[in-house]
Amino acid sequence: MFAGRAPGDPSADRIRIFAPAKINLFLHAGEKRPDGYHNLESLIVFAEVGDRIELTRSGEFSLSVTGPFASALPGFVHNLAFQAACELGCRAGVQDGVSIALEKNLPVASGIGGGSADAAAVLRGLKSLWGLTAFDLLPLARDLGSDVPVCLLSRPCWVEGRGEILTELTPLPWLSMVLVNPGVAIPTAAVFGALNARSGTGRLRPPGAVESLWDLIRYLGDADNDLEGPACELAPVIQDVLNALEQEPGCAIAAMSGSGGTCFGIFHEHEFANGAASRIAMDHSDWWVAPTRLAGPDAGKPI
Ligand code: C5P
Repeated sequence: MFAGRAPGDPSADRIRIFAPAKINLFLHAGEKRPDGYHNLESLIVFAEVGDRIELTRSGEFSLSVTGPFASALPGFVHNLAFQAACELGCRAGVQDGVSIALEKNLPVASGIGGGSADAAAVLRGLKSLWGLTAFDLLPLARDLGSDVPVCLLSRPCWVEGRGEILTELTPLPWLSMVLVNPGVAIPTAAVFGALNARSGTGRLRPPGAVESLWDLIRYLGDADNDLEGPACELAPVIQDVLNALEQEPGCAIAAMSGSGGTCFGIFHEHEFANGAASRIAMDHSDWWVAPTRLAGPDAGKPI
């Protein structure tokens, strides 16, 4: 919602943006490239749970963080959302600054794109706040990180390259999901560094219309997240998370997202997902457990 002005009004002083969690439904890795990155193929979707950001026009750049995971974040200089704002101001020749208020609801370094989602949301919000209608955010998003381009769209995508080649897919149905993180921060580079066995690219092509959970189950078949093995070696508790999800009634798919350690379970009915979330949270009071759904086509738009 734009404070006191109509949505889309470039003269607004404040804008609120939602930064949804990204979920890799599968992730196949290829060989390491000369630039140090791995070629990937992945199907990425977004959840209804996420961080919330408020941007307010200001003479300088500042960042304040609240929310359950505020204390887990590094200082503002190393914060990707802060860097995104400064870099956009610089590249677009904007004289203003911005005050960023970040409500950090997603665990940090957890494979669901929290930092990338925040940076992408800041880019989307500032494009509107600063009236940069003709500015192409994609090159800057690519420079900020492999997951930032897909988070810019925040819609279901088939993803290739190091993460920056996107094919947008038709929206998936609302599917009930539970996200579980065991509270261990897993640096992406360390997981890629421990990668041995890989599926390679070319095993799957983008799905056609996915209209039901059964379509998704059929499509995913024996697709894997190649980073699951190395992440479980670095943090064996991730296997406990996967086991906890898999043994829940109504769980159709359980896997790790990105480089971990957040895992997701997709359930046949919302009641199954809610029941699983309550039981897992009760059994593991130190785990982050979020019952949610795959986000609809409006995810990532100003709220
Ligand atoms: O792009 P981003 O900064 O998110 O990547 C973090 C690290 O993860 C990279 O430095 C690289 O070691 C690894 N990575 C990779 N292949 C990718 C994406 C990330 O090896 N496609």
